Amino acid sequence: MAEHPAYPVGLRLTGRRVVVLGGGQVAQRRLPALIAAGADIHLVSPEVTPSVQAMADAGEITWRRRPYEEGDLTDAWYALIATGDTEANTRASAEAERRRVWCVRSDDADEATAWTPATGHSEGVTVAVLTTDARGRDPRHTAAIRDAVVEGLRDGTLVAPHHRTRTPGVALVGGGPGDPDLITVRGRRLLAEADVVIADRLGPRDLLAELPPHVEVIDAAKIPYGRYMAQEAINNALIEHAKQGKSVVRLKGGDPYVFGRGMEELQALAEVGIPCTVVPGISSSISVPSAAGIPVTHRGVAHEFTVVSGHVAPDDERSLVDWPSLARLTGTLVILMGVDKIGKIAETLVAHGKPADTPVALVQEGTTAAQRRVDATLGTVAETVRTEDVKPPAVIVIGEVVKVGPTAAAPPK
Ligand SMILES: C[S@@+](CC[C@H](N)C(=O)[O-])C[C@H]1O[C@@H](n2cnc3c(N)ncnc32)[C@H](O)[C@@H]1O
Repeated sequence: MAEHPAYPVGLRLTGRRVVVLGGGQVAQRRLPALIAAGADIHLVSPEVTPSVQAMADAGEITWRRRPYEEGDLTDAWYALIATGDTEANTRASAEAERRRVWCVRSDDADEATAWTPATGHSEGVTVAVLTTDARGRDPRHTAAIRDAVVEGLRDGTLVAPHHRTRTPGVALVGGGPGDPDLITVRGRRLLAEADVVIADRLGPRDLLAELPPHVEVIDAAKIPYGRYMAQEAINNALIEHAKQGKSVVRLKGGDPYVFGRGMEELQALAEVGIPCTVVPGISSSISVPSAAGIPVTHRGVAHEFTVVSGHVAPDDERSLVDWPSLARLTGTLVILMGVDKIGKIAETLVAHGKPADTPVALVQEGTTAAQRRVDATLGTVAETVRTEDVKPPAVIVIGEVVKVGPTAAAPPK
């Protein structure tokens, strides 16, 4: 049976009866894909793992709580034989052969009439890798090939440009806080497929160096804006390139919608009918404290965290922040764009009742090679920023979480 290579095929199982014999680890691993394929799954086993039990409880599979019996494969289109009893598996595969039901056997690939490939998915494509014959089966090798292909497609190192239907338009991609590993899989793939990338100063700039030479990379800060505001000039550049039918990525630091003006750009594109997709990113407001060992919440310490822009001082009439209310909160305050105004901010918080000894941490250039953390209190932070020469970009964390570390005492139950 194994002298010829297996014939690869994709089974369309929606509503079709599939019988699974055994409820252990093999079934547990294979069931999610069968469920995703819409199969009508009948599982026969005296016992199952808790995860398989959860699938039965959720109505995703029908579970018959008994050992395999002759006749269980009646009307099946496909069977997975994976009981712990070799003798039962042999009887079941004989029944499958008789009834012409394709069957996979977990204990003996040679006796099976079908093999399960190592599979993975990337944006509408299923990658399935099969060994050529049963004797040469090396599941780790097939899984490694699958991983290499899927990861390559996801992170853009394996690009299939001639076969992809690329949609011209703009993708607003949240690039994360700076570490190139902290962009999403989707963001990285879109970046790899872009014709034009308009990038901010913050974000994963190292990724730009990896782009192929034909990709036009534009520094958003250097777009001349003459009679327009800088943001309008960026919007115009996005529109202009998209109108030429190019795939444009607007690469932004953190998340596009957290103080990122992402919606303004989306609105400008919508006004002229240019399609735009938004890819969320890991915001610096959470990831930068985390990179410096600070959890923004911690059981028994902080039950809330509030992210605030500090780009205008509390006494500035343009400020939309209710600083007196923030001073009354007991949780964590995370301030972005606040280095220049931290003196005024700390003063205002203390004036409205926040203790002057409240811990503060400033994390500069978080997640990059230049990351540094400087600690202070609300009473000392203005002076510390001066003496330590803290510079933007920095995330400022205010609250007791600053003092929580790996060696801290266990929080109250
Ligand atoms: C215009 S806001 C953009 C925030 C971004 N959209 C996000 O979700 O992280 C820029 C501010 O984010 C913070 N920031 C962004 N990346 C940072 C990093 N790697 N280290 C420290 N602060 C960062 C700084 O407070 C900076 O002034």
